[in-house]
Amino acid sequence: MHKFIVATLLTACFSAGAFAADDNAPPIWAWGFTTPAPATPPAPAPAAAASPDPTLHKISGSKFSFTRAQVSNRQEPADWFPEDHPAMPEIVAKGRASANPPINACALCHMPNGKGRPENAAVTGLTYEYIMQQLADFRDGKRRTTDTRKTNTALMAGFAKQMTHEEMDSAARYFASMPATPWIKVIESNTAPKTRIAGGVFFALTGKDAGTEPLGNRIIETPISAEDFEVLRNPRSGFIAYVPVGSIKKGETLVKTGGGKVTACTVCHGLDLKGAGPVPTLAGRSPSYLVRQLYDMQQGNRSGTWGPLMAPVVANLTTDDMLIAAAYLASLTP
Ligand code: HEC
Ligand code: HEC
Repeated sequence: MHKFIVATLLTACFSAGAFAADDNAPPIWAWGFTTPAPATPPAPAPAAAASPDPTLHKISGSKFSFTRAQVSNRQEPADWFPEDHPAMPEIVAKGRASANPPINACALCHMPNGKGRPENAAVTGLTYEYIMQQLADFRDGKRRTTDTRKTNTALMAGFAKQMTHEEMDSAARYFASMPATPWIKVIESNTAPKTRIAGGVFFALTGKDAGTEPLGNRIIETPISAEDFEVLRNPRSGFIAYVPVGSIKKGETLVKTGGGKVTACTVCHGLDLKGAGPVPTLAGRSPSYLVRQLYDMQQGNRSGTWGPLMAPVVANLTTDDMLIAAAYLASLTP
């Protein structure tokens, strides 16, 4: 039986405390949840009828102003800083509205600069070859998510199913042309801010609700500014990841030596952990994303063409190993 199911059953029988103490409990924080998935997922709440808000927003340093609807327009999201990236191909800037269902602009979720957000993925610092392979794997149903409450993975797969070879090629060329740059500050701490969750992302509470709570065996990754993230989708505003005290050093040992249980990650991902060819970069990437991928591979939900190289690695990792590896990798300069 899968560990995910076992742990879900365990939590149903025992207290939350027992769950937190289990090294192999599913790292549900990586999907942006605090409780295990219920057996029957609740029906999604109907979307509130939004009245268009005409307020124009600005970001310091950008000559543009946009309404919230423009900022998150699925077929042409705001591009605050066109000077930060090469000219976007049509599929990245606008997607393809005429597809059925429509392909949303890649820039909506991954940002025009490809730096992405914890609930999706950074697509900078990756090779053309790797990106093309992942789009094919999504298309072929080989990249699914373990916690199906996370619905944007299925959206991503849906886009890949609709994309033409030319669209994949132009998006892959575009993102592969952009080097990764620092985006996440990693802080070792025994505590994390108290948070609320929206759209699979943790936001620090503010005002009278602000405070800290024990971090425990989790990584809490949160936007530096909720306003920049939620309202403005500011592509220059990054993230803080709170990781357990001591996890970076422990992670470094595991990544560089394999900890006596797996092949050292550096053997394939490179001494600088920046990948090459079909092997992706890991340095400076979202720790929530990294843990989701490791766990998805372990559970057989991500099983692409190059997956067999990772299979013996993930088979021998506990979720605690995944956490420490991600803490270290996220702390590296990309
Ligand atoms: C609705 C949001 C959304 C849009 C729009 C979107 N993606 Fe994604 N993408 C995701 C998510 C979510 C993931 C990670 C899935 C996970 O963690 O399970 C992802 C992952 C990826 C990855 C894998 C990165 C890696 O390191 O393996 C690539 C490549 C990618 N997307 C390319 C694209 C391209 C090209 C487009 C435009 C056609 C696009 N995406 C549009 C949400 C999106
Ligand atoms: C034998 C070679 C090999 C070793 C050793 C290896 N990897 Fe990988 N890794 C790969 C390949 C190849 C892929 C791409 C898999 C795919 O395309 O599905 C990958 C993918 C990944 C991904 C997904 C990244 C993304 O962008 O989605 C993560 C995370 C990862 N590896 C972490 C690790 C860690 C941590 C270790 C060490 C504990 C490790 N790998 C050891 C070859 C390796």
